[in-house]
Amino acid sequence: MRKQDLALALSLAVATAFAAGSVQAQDACQDGEIVIKFSHVTNTDKHPKGIAATLLAKRVNEEMNGKVCLEVFPNSQLYNDDQVLEAMLAGDVQMAAPSLSKFEKFTKKFRLFDLPFMFEDIAAVDRFQTSELGEKLKDSMRRRGLQGLAFWHNGMKQISANKPLIDPSDAAGLKFRVQPSDVLVAQMEALGANPQKMAFSEVYGALQTGVVDGQENTWSNIYGKKFFEVQDGITESNHGIIDYLVVASTEWWDGLPDGIRTQLKTILDEVTETRNAESTRVNEEAKKAVIAAGSTVRTLTPEQRAKWVAVMKPVWSKFEGDIGAELMAGAQAANATN
Ligand code: LMR
Repeated sequence: MRKQDLALALSLAVATAFAAGSVQAQDACQDGEIVIKFSHVTNTDKHPKGIAATLLAKRVNEEMNGKVCLEVFPNSQLYNDDQVLEAMLAGDVQMAAPSLSKFEKFTKKFRLFDLPFMFEDIAAVDRFQTSELGEKLKDSMRRRGLQGLAFWHNGMKQISANKPLIDPSDAAGLKFRVQPSDVLVAQMEALGANPQKMAFSEVYGALQTGVVDGQENTWSNIYGKKFFEVQDGITESNHGIIDYLVVASTEWWDGLPDGIRTQLKTILDEVTETRNAESTRVNEEAKKAVIAAGSTVRTLTPEQRAKWVAVMKPVWSKFEGDIGAELMAGAQAANATN
């Protein structure tokens, strides 16, 4: 092949791979390699999950070249969060990192993470997840065919609507998009608002067209999906968290050759440690970018925030039975060391 033809063929191959939406060029996988499709819903470079998934692919493809080929499909290009776990059980995708709110059908224990004002900050979440109780949660869905591999951090949730939100009563009567979690439904109902479960990829359009009035999410998601463009500012409420579980099907994970599984897990653990340490910084940068883009960020005085706590926190009692006293106490103990 002439040099120019080779260059053309290569650029066409790269263009095709990008059109197909994966970060790792599809045709870069070699015969005989174990192919891992990693599906997620955020961007790749300005988001704690996106950056972590990209780094995981880079390291696996470099260090396990010839044995494993990991392709990342970001931005819901392959699956929405409400489809990806079913697709995983069907063997169509091998890894994903849905938020902990998206495991409702598989376990009620993860409801802990959605309880408003349960964790003071992401450092407390980290302490809890790396405790014995937290580690055990990774195995809690094996019976249902899912193996948790690592917790990845995002950050604290903020709340916004098409009008300023300062007092909890400001949210009454508004429609809010929530992730598919009954805790989040109860939290919005406690405000007198109307919650609507919806896939992440649909939120911008729903806010823009008025299907919903408001939403709650982390700075990196508010920035990454431009929700601030279609909201009247963002209230810095830090009222909850969004975190992720990197997950695989038990059948696929257990079926990997031992050496492959061990090396993959070692790389995943290293990427987790490196990127979890950066998640708060990534969210702070996203917050700055939201402000730089001209959006209003509203902070709450301690008295104003105490009112949100008083309205939202009573939902805990509704879910204590599902979660169990031990996990609730363990999570609170992780705050106490602050
Ligand atoms: C959401 O649905 O709002 C988030 O879980 C999206 C994500 O993965 O951060």
